[in-house]
Amino acid sequence: MTASNNSSRPVVAVLGAGPAGLYAANKLVQEGADVLLINRDVKPGGLAEYGIYFDKHKMKNGLRKQFTRILDQENIEYMGHIEVREQDGTLTLDELEKLGCAAYLIAVGAQGTRKLGYQGEDEIEGIFHAKDLVYHYNQLPPFASQDFAVGQHVGIIGMGNVMVDIAHWLVWEKKVASVTVLARRGPAERAYTDKEMREVVNAVDFDALDKEVNRVAPILESIGQDVAAVKEELRKPLDKAETFDSPTKMFFRYLVSVKKLIPDENGRLKGVEVIHNQMVPRGDTYSPKPTEETEVIPLDTLVYAIGDQVDEGLGLPFEWGKYLTPSGNNPHDPEKPRYEVKEAQADQPRSGWFLGGWARVASDGLVGKARADGESAALEVMRWVKENNAQSPDLPTCKKKLCEMLSEKGHAFVEYADVVKLQDIEQARAKEQGVPLFKFNTNEEMFEAIRKA
Ligand SMILES: Cc1cc2nc3c(=O)[nH]c(=O)nc-3n(C[C@H](O)[C@H](O)[C@H](O)COP(=O)(O)OP(=O)(O)OC[C@H]3O[C@@H](n4cnc5c(N)ncnc54)[C@H](O)[C@@H]3O)c2cc1C
Ligand SMILES: NC(=O)c1ccc[n+]([C@@H]2O[C@H](COP(=O)([O-])OP(=O)(O)OC[C@H]3O[C@@H](n4cnc5c(N)ncnc54)[C@H](OP(=O)(O)O)[C@@H]3O)[C@@H](O)[C@H]2O)c1
Repeated sequence: MTASNNSSRPVVAVLGAGPAGLYAANKLVQEGADVLLINRDVKPGGLAEYGIYFDKHKMKNGLRKQFTRILDQENIEYMGHIEVREQDGTLTLDELEKLGCAAYLIAVGAQGTRKLGYQGEDEIEGIFHAKDLVYHYNQLPPFASQDFAVGQHVGIIGMGNVMVDIAHWLVWEKKVASVTVLARRGPAERAYTDKEMREVVNAVDFDALDKEVNRVAPILESIGQDVAAVKEELRKPLDKAETFDSPTKMFFRYLVSVKKLIPDENGRLKGVEVIHNQMVPRGDTYSPKPTEETEVIPLDTLVYAIGDQVDEGLGLPFEWGKYLTPSGNNPHDPEKPRYEVKEAQADQPRSGWFLGGWARVASDGLVGKARADGESAALEVMRWVKENNAQSPDLPTCKKKLCEMLSEKGHAFVEYADVVKLQDIEQARAKEQGVPLFKFNTNEEMFEAIRKA
């Protein structure tokens, strides 16, 4: 919000080049801004690159093409391998603000991890967060080269599409002996979609599933659910089931919550004690309510697939897993949420700072939803920029200043031309090896490949 800009296009800094940040950048350009797009990862795409299951080549290539069209625009400058964090990142938010951009849009996704608070959850071996495994099998550094010692009997807490993706990897790639889904509510409250479930449904032990639904049937009937209809719905993914060669058997345990983690003498998980739940009405839905009944389920691995939260270390006001926005309705449209970042000390907007995508609401929906939210955030940003006549230096000046800051810190970053080179190199490697996709596993290898190109 300073100095002059000969081109008269205000520069907006967008933090995060996942779907929300990329589509926001596109919208900002359409609305008359230039964009400095700053991203933690070397490559753009966020979870579209490093979250969506790796064999969805058609979808991922389609998204990559759209992102390329966005990034090819001269009104956007992409700068990758720059992590903005308060303590241990490349830059802090205050340093970023020194660039003097007209406004700042935070679209860094939900990089924080939700814990469940069980004794030993950080120490006992064999306990993983789904996001880390997802980043590992999608080859995001540094997760790509980390060893995740998954055992043979894997429990997954949560019953959403991330659970299905993890099960997909465990069944198809790891070929573990068993996968047991631990759901705190009943089968009708499953959050996964039938389309995704087709990938693994052939691993489901339907005799065991029937028995499990029969076990909880009295509770389902007590809240008016039709048990026969639920059983039928659970079989629907079989209509278009994928086939695979794997010994894995998949089980569902409904209305159970983990109460205690049980390690063996070497500190590795050997089981979980679960408590059986009932269901009690809450608004339009039902909540789990613990009973007195418990049971031990032998498992050597446990994965939390319960959704994520935002990164507390970014430097924004944070509470209950979320960045804070000012209280009250959106002043321009009460039907819309608030996109402004809240001031640290007062219940008012931090002037010129906005949130979008999973950074605004963590683990919320598909790429299309992140896109819509990024675009809405961009419109809010531009309304504010215009109403406040917010100015900035021009894009080359903002970029130069950022480059100077980074070189003062001795920090290596990539520009869009480097990303294009990297994509070409990786595509050539894939062709050479006759595989649909090749990715480098470390940032060092990526930098080396770019340097040699
Ligand atoms: C396992 C999984 C599978 C999914 N599969 C599908 C699917 O098949 N189809 C579908 O439509 N949707 C899918 N989704 C949902 C989709 O990925 C999200 O809706 C979408 O990616 C969210 O976009 P975002 O830009 O808000 O966040 P993200 O995609 O997480 O992007 C965040 C970006 O911010 C950058 N960043 C993070 N922290 C910082 C920082 N501190 N400083 C600078 N930059 C930072 C990251 O490098 C990243 O590029 C899936 C989600 C998950 C978790
Ligand atoms: N292929 C795809 O299209 C794809 C793949 C992956 C992700 N996504 C999308 O990404 C988003 C996030 O997916 P997600 O699976 O992480 O989230 P999700 O759909 O919200 O599912 C989270 C699951 O975790 C459970 N859970 C939450 N908190 C819990 C707790 N404290 N204890 C026990 N269980 C708990 C939830 O149960 P309750 O219902 O009881 O809360 C729910 O079953 C979704 O919109 C999803 O559709 C899409």
